[in-house]
Amino acid sequence: MSEMKKPVYKPNREFAASARIKNMCEYETLQAWATEDYEGFWGHFAKEKITWQTPFDTVMDESDFPFVKWFGGGRLNVSVQCIDRHLQTRKNKAAIIFEGDRGDKQTITYMELHNSVNRFANMLKNEFGVRKGDRVVIYMPMIPEAAYAMLACARLGAIHSIVFGGFSAEALRDRIADAQAKVVITADGAYRKNKPYMLKPVVDKALEGDTPVEKVCVVERNGEEIVWVEGRDVSYSDLIVKQSIHCEPEIMESEDPLFLLYTSGSTGKPKGVQHNSAGYILWAQMTMEWVFDVKESDIYWCTADVGWITGHTYIVYGPLAMGATTVMFEGVPTYPDAGRPWKMVEEYRINQFYTAPTAIRVLHKMGNDEPKKYDLSSLKVLGTVGEPIDPPAWKWYYEDVGNSKCAIVDTYWQTETGGHIVSPLPGATPIKPGCATFPLPGIMAEILDPKTGEKVEAGEGGYMCVTRPWPAMIRGVWGDEERFKKSYFGDVKKEGRAVYFTGDGAVYDEDGYITITGRTDDVINVSGHRMGTAEVEAAINKHEGVAEVAVVGKPHDLKGEGIFSYVIMKNDTVTGRNMELTKEINNIIKQEIGNIALCDDIVFVPGLPKTRSGKIMRRILRAIAKGEAITQDISTLEDPSVVEKIQNAVNT
Ligand code: WTA
Repeated sequence: MSEMKKPVYKPNREFAASARIKNMCEYETLQAWATEDYEGFWGHFAKEKITWQTPFDTVMDESDFPFVKWFGGGRLNVSVQCIDRHLQTRKNKAAIIFEGDRGDKQTITYMELHNSVNRFANMLKNEFGVRKGDRVVIYMPMIPEAAYAMLACARLGAIHSIVFGGFSAEALRDRIADAQAKVVITADGAYRKNKPYMLKPVVDKALEGDTPVEKVCVVERNGEEIVWVEGRDVSYSDLIVKQSIHCEPEIMESEDPLFLLYTSGSTGKPKGVQHNSAGYILWAQMTMEWVFDVKESDIYWCTADVGWITGHTYIVYGPLAMGATTVMFEGVPTYPDAGRPWKMVEEYRINQFYTAPTAIRVLHKMGNDEPKKYDLSSLKVLGTVGEPIDPPAWKWYYEDVGNSKCAIVDTYWQTETGGHIVSPLPGATPIKPGCATFPLPGIMAEILDPKTGEKVEAGEGGYMCVTRPWPAMIRGVWGDEERFKKSYFGDVKKEGRAVYFTGDGAVYDEDGYITITGRTDDVINVSGHRMGTAEVEAAINKHEGVAEVAVVGKPHDLKGEGIFSYVIMKNDTVTGRNMELTKEINNIIKQEIGNIALCDDIVFVPGLPKTRSGKIMRRILRAIAKGEAITQDISTLEDPSVVEKIQNAVNT
């Protein structure tokens, strides 16, 4: 990050005048309210925003910290919040606008969404015996049925666990086993760049051998031939037509689980991040309203996949909870050309557009002049998420896409935070390129010194923490209380009390603006997707010739970070690059995790830089991967000469 003072862009007056939070004075008033009367603040919004079946009697219960309970005594159903409550005023409004890879289009009104979700819920209940608390795995492409499946689970109180369609059979098997899911909802496949690709065969493979899964529901999307397992597989189109459009919503306690989403940590296997009903949906809706400022007739588009948290909160739950129109897109943004998103913005008159920096970099590189070809004047808010955005990408987004009039909301958050925690407010926050700016109202986010637990001064890096529990925070790691405590509440204490640590480093500038500097742990961020180096290492270790491996992230022009692996072979005569072995190892990664974890570079080395206690010094490996000179003291290494040998191997 350059030390140059960043320019400040003032909010566009035209949009600011009607924004929900109009200026920094209003922002500060809200934040002061939350600081002085935390429970009063959250209680007020919970009452105002949620359609309760039974009102709550307590706001927050921290007596069993870090296991915190919100809105005790309250009862609701999230599908009612997202659908039923809108029917009186919005039944003919578009809830979802779907565009397929090949340009096929479908508009689903709130009434139609209601009917489809109720039918889906009845199917799960009547045909598969799904009940409150059961786990349902969803392995789907980006089609409306994925959203129906999520909301149908919510209607029944079943806990969904979506597995991103790019994950392999092994990865799917692990997640099914960990959640002990009884049903899998999938599709035959879908389309990508005008060609069919398959999902069902991956499910078949994941269910080989022992499995808790009793039924697989298959939605037909591309009509390609698939294997059918009698007694287990059922056709969605056959069953759904028989179902009634009335399904009584299961009335849930505020803290009943809504979903699990597996995500990578710094060690071990991915963990099942658990989110519960009331707190999650409240914050999904509030951030939708504040951060995107979506108006009643606006059209909002988030390009994420429902397999990630961004798709959960900002394609499905957030937009629908507030009664907005959300666009769902099956395809890739660069097909048939890098003007596709801008063409869609023009066609649907999209007002808010939300994507990842990696997509912006690719669209910029492949289609610098594409935005000029379309009428993008409907755009008001442009969002980014998933990784730090670099100034050239920011500038192009702001000037060429947003015509220097839109607010850029650089939203910082994580799977675990449920929704945004640090972000500009469009119309209110003067923005600076690459800055997530300030904590949202109600979020007590601070950059702390990990040793003293005190807030750091401007310019000093520290750990991005949240010092008070908030409604949408992670409620647990599925089946592993200890891991939950250790992963998030072990590292930093403020005034003697454990606080939530995000795993990210951050820094304040002289105006108090927050810039996220990246992970402080062994998690890397590849094209905005979180990947644990330990997971990739475990996959590589399955190659029978491999003796030892260490994986690090290396800056990459388009992906943000690429995956760089150092491998010691049992037959240690292999050093430098080796095409054949690289292919073999990447094939194993493809099977174990999926294409998203393929290594960009694998270097075969004679040893790894280890301390005398056997710890691998990853900082040295990261520096070598970047081609940087080694400045740190290497005399404490067990064998300091290994550094030069590794450098030689990398440079051959
Ligand atoms: C990173 C995605 C910089 C961060 C919503 C975090 C960001 C991880 C930003 C979470 C941002 C997310 N600026 N870095 N605006 N947003 N990150 O769980 O490292 O897939 O910890 O959630 O992405 O990734 P996850």
